[in-house]
Amino acid sequence: MTLTLAATTPASTACEALIVAIAPGRGKAIVLVSQGLTDAQSSRIIETLEAVGASAKSGDITRIPGGDGIKAALIVAVGLGDAAKQGDEEAVRRAYGNAIRTLSGRAKVAVVAPKDESQLRAIATGSRLAAYEFTSFKSKPSKAAQPPSSIVLLVPRAVSAAERRIVNEINVTADAINLTRDLVNTPPNALPPVALAKAATDAVAGLPVKVTIWDVPALKRARCGGILGVGQGSSNPPRLVKLEYSPRGATAHLSLVGKGITFDTGGISIKPAANMDEMKGDMAGAAAVIGALQSIATLGLKIKVTGWLAIAENMPSSTAQRPGDVITMFDGTTVEVLNTDAEGRLVLADALGMAVKEKPDLLIDVATLTGAQSVALGRRTSGVMSNDDDARDQVCAAAAAAGEDMWPMPLPEDLRSALDSATADIANIGDRMGGMLSAGVFLSTFIPAGQPWVHLDIAGPAFNDKGAYGYLPKGGTGAAVRTFVRIAQTLAAG
Ligand code: BES
Ligand code: ZN
Ligand code: ZN
Repeated sequence: MTLTLAATTPASTACEALIVAIAPGRGKAIVLVSQGLTDAQSSRIIETLEAVGASAKSGDITRIPGGDGIKAALIVAVGLGDAAKQGDEEAVRRAYGNAIRTLSGRAKVAVVAPKDESQLRAIATGSRLAAYEFTSFKSKPSKAAQPPSSIVLLVPRAVSAAERRIVNEINVTADAINLTRDLVNTPPNALPPVALAKAATDAVAGLPVKVTIWDVPALKRARCGGILGVGQGSSNPPRLVKLEYSPRGATAHLSLVGKGITFDTGGISIKPAANMDEMKGDMAGAAAVIGALQSIATLGLKIKVTGWLAIAENMPSSTAQRPGDVITMFDGTTVEVLNTDAEGRLVLADALGMAVKEKPDLLIDVATLTGAQSVALGRRTSGVMSNDDDARDQVCAAAAAAGEDMWPMPLPEDLRSALDSATADIANIGDRMGGMLSAGVFLSTFIPAGQPWVHLDIAGPAFNDKGAYGYLPKGGTGAAVRTFVRIAQTLAAG
């Protein structure tokens, strides 16, 4: 999939479909927002749209035939409502996402772009991210379901250097997001821990990123009891992966830690059968870290970024850890495993323990950590918890700017005592009420004072089990990648 810029006029551009924008007009039902068409072409389009009862409401899509000197056989009118006027970039992204999703099976699509830079960004992002379909495991992929292979943005005059930069950045980040989506969608038998570690290596091949992988003997030498404990029930051994991007001249250091459970059965505390297949997405945190590193290194951002992937498969077997087992984490903390399904926090504890030793300026972990996240915030909004109000606000602001729904949540101190263990330093489950926060409080005990740390629970948002909407497909969404790139850009700018 490529997104390109061109200065040809909408009418003369050879393409299968032309996307134009419409909005409610003063006194009129519809006005054409897009420029570059002749008055005659514009009035013919408006008349036809009115005749078929087109709606200019935000996100509504109407399809009419081309013709009358317009090369495209199909014109797709995207309703913007008042979004463009009000500067609601997310509404613009979603509206164009809707339009692109109606154009599966068509090779080349042209989009009439506006002069305004922030709108160009929103239109390009929404269009590009919507053009996704996971077909790797279809023996005969249907052509009709394939998203457009080329989208060209038509600008009203010569393409500027700034526009070129924007589109390049969007292409790079969208490629990374689609890689993250692919990894989440890949079936668990095709992506055991070793394969996920290899996918991380492949994702940064040719980039200035150093990859270090801990296999089981190395994890034992490093005393990573959490990753080993969770992984010991599976015949597919666990891994820890470190990705280091350290460009010359970088001053800030960002560390990203991702939960990489390639399949979460729950272990001996086994999950119910319904929807267990979705637990192939329990490595979405690790996949987001892989996507972020690929994007940040490709863009050459001047910031040191370290990625840590805590990878294991959580299986029940005669070698699996049991409820009641006590394991010793990387930092020496002993943990009583009261529920083997609360495994994410165990693998993260080791990786966080290693990450904090480098004292990064900002440490963020990202995980499909709790079902309680969706109970608290719904399936589309991630929870943001932190030991540092400024760091938490910074992450929420980056998410808002990037167009991801994330919301601040507390880490109430009173939840700590429910994690007390009679046998070990701490238990891996606490109060069921506020389960997302309880998991966050567990993780916070592995963060030394003074280390700015933010925890993202993306359990719901990482995997869209309902239908596609806006620019988000069904299945893996690529949640958190855009936010990470944005944070890296902000920190790099100093
Ligand atoms: N991977 C799950 C959380 C999850 C649930 C992610 C639904 C995506 C969708 C996690 O490992 C888990 O099972 N957590 C338990 C914790 C509990 C035992 C304290 C949960 O949320 O039920
Ligand atoms: Zn679990
Ligand atoms: Zn899990």
